[in-house]
This record gives sequence, structure tokens and C-alpha cells, in this order.
Amino acid sequence: MRVADYHEQFAAVYDTFYAKRDVAGEVQLAVNLLGLDNAPAGSRHVLDFGCGTGSHVLAFAGCGFKATGFDRSPAMIARARAKCSARGFADVMFESGAPSEFFSRLDGTRFDGAVSFFNVLNCIETPGDMASQLRLIRSRLTPGASMLIEVWNGAAVFRDAPRSDVRLCADPDTPARELVRMTLPTLDRIRQTCTLLYRVLDLDREAGSFAEFKSVHDIQFLTPVHYRHLFELADLAILDEFPKGRPGTPITQDDWHIAYLVRRDT
Ligand SMILES: C[S@@+](CC[C@H](N)C(=O)[O-])C[C@H]1O[C@@H](n2cnc3c(N)ncnc32)[C@H](O)[C@@H]1O
Repeated sequence: MRVADYHEQFAAVYDTFYAKRDVAGEVQLAVNLLGLDNAPAGSRHVLDFGCGTGSHVLAFAGCGFKATGFDRSPAMIARARAKCSARGFADVMFESGAPSEFFSRLDGTRFDGAVSFFNVLNCIETPGDMASQLRLIRSRLTPGASMLIEVWNGAAVFRDAPRSDVRLCADPDTPARELVRMTLPTLDRIRQTCTLLYRVLDLDREAGSFAEFKSVHDIQFLTPVHYRHLFELADLAILDEFPKGRPGTPITQDDWHIAYLVRRDT
């Protein structure tokens, strides 16, 4: 049987895998790029599409924004909600499930900006589905509002194919706990997909025990020409295309992680 992605066990270790990420810095850059720094934060509502365990949503809330996080994985959203209640934020909403149902439940809600960090778009099964979900996001943006979207750059993936990798990750909250994450990628250059098989060992040094689990993640990557076409199909104007974290810089075939700043014009 195929192992699902972003299930309960994977969600439970997600924040430890990425404990060294500069979430506050990523959110600050997004605030600047989305033009959200020129009005009182409390009057602005931000959507994080594919918010995972909610770290960026909570960082937006920490800056005073009203923030909504959506993720199709209930396990990731359960983590996000637990972190949110521990921090005591009021103006934050987390939702999980099918994107079409989430957007239809939103009723009159309009977002003043949106983000999708860390290749969420590439988790969507087909380019056609990517276009329809982008259209759904667009329909909930205030005209003039922008969205920041991070994706894999197919040109770089073809040039420098993903390799197997073993990573040790410490859990800052429980020093006796250590994670070993093994990644085995399978690249299909024709379908432009990469299947990432994760094997994770969750070691408890104090108890002298470990748990082991797998998670399989299918990535559909596109080349920049096709991302641009996708944004055109979704009626989103491209304001910038840049290596992740470096707005205003042209992308090259060496930049694996790229970002798009797009806007709903009318
Ligand atoms: C690599 S994680 C990124 C999470 C978070 N944005 C971050 O930066 O840590 C990808 C996330 O996208 C979610 N996801 C995948 N497809 C989705 C979709 N169509 N709609 C919403 N979330 C989706 C997954 O459940 C997962 O939590």
C-alpha cells in the first residue's frame, strides 16, 4: 500500500526537520513584497495557502495581521492549531480539507495578500489542478492584492537532479530525541515529477528506543516558461520572478528554489 504524505507521524516531526528556518525573515520579506507594510497591520488579512504547521501564519499574527492558514492535511492543521492556542492568538483561523470546499466556505472573505511558501504548488497533482487552485485563490484576493509563491525550478532540477540524502535533526525541546531523515528521490524527466520517499527514524536516547516510518511525496515541477503560462491562465499578473529570498534578481538554471510575485489586477 502506498504511504500517504503529510500524515500524523510526518506532521509530528515537521517542525524539527525545519527548526533552523528563518520564518520571521521569510514573513518580513513577504510583508514588504506584498506591500502590506503601508497600512495598519490589524486592518489587513493574509492567506497562507498550504500553511503546513502554521509557523508563518503565527508570524504574520505576531506582526499584528489577521491571518488564515489553509492546508489540505488535517494532521498539519492539527499541529498548527495546537501551536496557535499555546500562543493565544485570537485573529487566526486554520482550515483543512479540499481546496474547493475551503474557498466556497469563505463566503465574502477577501484577502489583502497571500503566500504559499516552500513548494506547495508542486504538491498539486497536475498543472491543470494548479491553474484551478490558483484561480480559486485569485477569486478571494482584493483587486490589487499580491501573492508570493515559491516553487521548484524545473530547469535547475534537470541540470542538477535531486540526490539521496541523510540528515540528522535535533529536537530543541527534547534534547534526548533525535531524528534521522533519509530521502530517496525518483526523478521522471518526461512527466516532470519527482517522488520523494522519506524514511524517518525517531530516536529516543533516554528510553533507548526508536520509531520508524515512511512518507511518500509526489512533486510535479514545471519550468519557468510553464509557470508563467499557469499564472496567465489564472489571470494573475507577474510582477517578479526571482531566486528564493532575492527579489529583483533574474533566475538562472542554477536556482533550484524560485519565487513568483503575482497580482490580481482587476
Ligand atoms: C512542503 S510543505 C510546506 C508547508 C509550509 N508552507 C512551510 O513553508 O513550511 C507543503 C504543504 O502543502 C500542503 N498541500 C499540498 N497540496 C495542497 C493543496 N492543494 N492545498 C493546500 N495545501 C496543500 C501539504 O499538506 C503540506 O503541508
